[in-house]
Formats: sequence, structure tokens, C-alpha cells
Amino acid sequence: MLLKVPATSANLGPGFDCIGMALNLYNYIEYEFLEKEGYLSLEISGEGADSLAKDKSNLVYRAFSRAFILNNQKVPGIKLKLINNIPLARGLGSSSAAIIGGLMVANCQLNKRLNDDQLLDLAMEFEDHPDNIAPALLGGIVLCTLNNGKYYYQKMNPPNPLCCSILIPDFQLSTKMAREVLPDVIPLKDAVFNVGKMGFFINAINTGNLELLKLAIDDKLHQPYRSRLIPGLPELFAKATKSKIILGIAISGAGPSVIIFHKKEDTDSLGQLQEVLLQHGTAAKLINLKPIVEGAQVL
Ligand code: HSE
Repeated sequence: MLLKVPATSANLGPGFDCIGMALNLYNYIEYEFLEKEGYLSLEISGEGADSLAKDKSNLVYRAFSRAFILNNQKVPGIKLKLINNIPLARGLGSSSAAIIGGLMVANCQLNKRLNDDQLLDLAMEFEDHPDNIAPALLGGIVLCTLNNGKYYYQKMNPPNPLCCSILIPDFQLSTKMAREVLPDVIPLKDAVFNVGKMGFFINAINTGNLELLKLAIDDKLHQPYRSRLIPGLPELFAKATKSKIILGIAISGAGPSVIIFHKKEDTDSLGQLQEVLLQHGTAAKLINLKPIVEGAQVL
């Protein structure tokens, strides 16, 4: 059996910790249940093949086994082959993909007894923020809010001509480190700035008026503080703002990747953005991706 889980980009400019989007870049999990209870065989190819754990501490396996334990069931034997295309620690949701992947594999054996809400609740045992987890499972662009200790989700479909490219620097940045640079207190005017931008962002997505994204994609809650972790970021944003094809640019999740929203797939001129980072000593890969409607799926 085979399933795929998409990469995700969180924050999307103004929506720090509250919004994320699924992208057409996937990790695949081949799996086969085995008779021998608790047995694990784990192979990894692609991203993280040399660095990720191949024993029971692997995040895919931890999520997989947690689903059985929570359902008072014995953990079945499993042969897993992870084919990873989502780069690690780059702000593209590789951990969320692992968690959702592990839970989905378990849910197949549990005859899909866990619904999306339960899967999301369970996934949140492993991550502190829902903005990658939710779109990895549900697809589309997902809004998340915490109410009386429980997360709630609203999925929106990405408007059709919306394309994006991701600039992926050749260094890793852990979410933990990227959160350590954030202040505990935000000036009121910065909070108001983000509230307004977020309103415009949601309106742009729901109406399909992509011109509004030019106004909406900005942030004062996390990007100014994280800027120093990504050499050349202010210059990159300045360059992007002048481009005719770019609708918006933002740090993807906690970084260091950057998401660039544009209408056309014609992205020749985006190579200039790579140059800007290179001038600041950072080599980066540029890939074109599309927002997708479907989340993780058994194939
Ligand atoms: N929203 C998180 C952050 C990353 O920017 O730190 C994804 O959970």
C-alpha cells in the first residue's frame, strides 16, 4: 500500500501560527502490515535518508504507534518505506508530513475509525502549532483557531490562477531556534497591522481577487525578528516588491524557505531572487509549486 502526504507552507504572510497551505510536493510512504506484533522494518530514501532515525524513535512510527495505543490496540508489525521529497527543517512541513503520514497508515489498519478531527487532535500531541498539520491532512488553505483548549479548522480552496514558487536555502533552521528570536510582547500597532492584513488575505482567497494579495501579504509578528536568521532577506523582499509578476512574498513557516506568490507559471524572472540570496552568501534552490486541494491520500 502507498500513501502520499503534501508539503505545506505556514503563516502565508500575516497568519502567524493560524494558517497554512498544502503544496504539490509529496512524501510517499509504502507500507505493509506484518504478523509479528510490534515489529518494525524502516527504510528511508531521499530527504533525511542519512539523518532520520530508522528505529522506533522515527516520527512516522511514533505517530503510527500512538494511534493504536490510544485506541487500546496492540501495535501491529509494519514494514515502512519512506520516500521523502520534502526537505527537512526548511519551513515546508516535513515533520507534519511525517506525523500525518504515520497516523494515516495506522488509520488504514484501524478501518478508518479516526475521523479528521480525531486525527488532527492526535497530531497536535506531536506539534505545538496546527498550521502545517491541518493542511497536510485536509489540503487547501486551512485556517486554525484555538477555542477553550481545542483547535478548530476551516478549509478554503485556493483560487485557480494562484501559483507559487519556493526559494529553499541550502541550510536548515529548526522551528525551535526560529521561535527563540521572537519577542514575548508585540506592540499593539503591529498586532493591528497583522489583523488588517489577515482580513485582506482571507478576502483575497475567498473572492479570488488576487490583486488584494499584494496588500495582504505582509507581517510584523515574526518576519522582522527572523530576518536576521536568513541572510539577504530584506534585500530579497525589496527586490520582489518591484517585480510585476509577484503578488506577495513571505517566509514559509518558520523559514528559512521563502514562498513567492504569483499568477503565472512563467517564472524566468524569479531567478533574480536566487541571485539576491547568493549575493549574501546563501545558495538556494527555486522550485515552482501549486497550491493543492487534496491533503494526504492513500493511493
Ligand atoms: N507557525 C510556525 C512558526 C511554524 O512560524 O513558528 C509552523 O508551525
